[in-house]
Amino acid sequence: MSAKNIVLIGFMGVGKSMFSNRLGNILNRDVLSTDDLIEQKEGRLVSRIFADSGEAYFRRVEREIVREVSQRKDVIIDCGGGVVLSPENTASLKKTGTLIYLKASPERIYENIKEQGHRPLLSGDDPRARIAELLAQRKPLYEQADYTIETDHKTVEQVCEEIITLLSYE
Ligand code: S3P
Repeated sequence: MSAKNIVLIGFMGVGKSMFSNRLGNILNRDVLSTDDLIEQKEGRLVSRIFADSGEAYFRRVEREIVREVSQRKDVIIDCGGGVVLSPENTASLKKTGTLIYLKASPERIYENIKEQGHRPLLSGDDPRARIAELLAQRKPLYEQADYTIETDHKTVEQVCEEIITLLSYE
């Protein structure tokens, strides 16, 4: 397997952090989460940044973090669901990494996130409709990935195995 970064992208609630961490254990590679790095840099939670400073500010910090993590080598990058909204982010992640889109159905995403209260973009009255709307908007952006893996009904081990198999051909 090459020393390119493994970059996991996909919608909120797909399980990117879970897959990244498992993959990091299996491959013995460092895992960098853009959301965690943003929170460390800002000293506050993502939900606080959205509430107090707004989405545009969050995206600015996110772009800085993506620029930094794209300079690394041989790591796994767990991207917040909106990283692909900036073409600059997608381009710099692609330069040093292989992008893998972890794809889940809106129903699955809803089931995964409904118990969790920390997604500012899904906190309105009708999260199901919001998921469907945002997914439709972002579909072409996620599909810029090098590979797509369907995650519905798969275990974390199965998904990691698929990723490793795909990357072994690189
Ligand atoms: C966002 C996804 C979140 C987080 C922020 C915005 C998005 O990350 O970056 O709430 O725009 O999709 P996760 O995908 O890890 O939930």
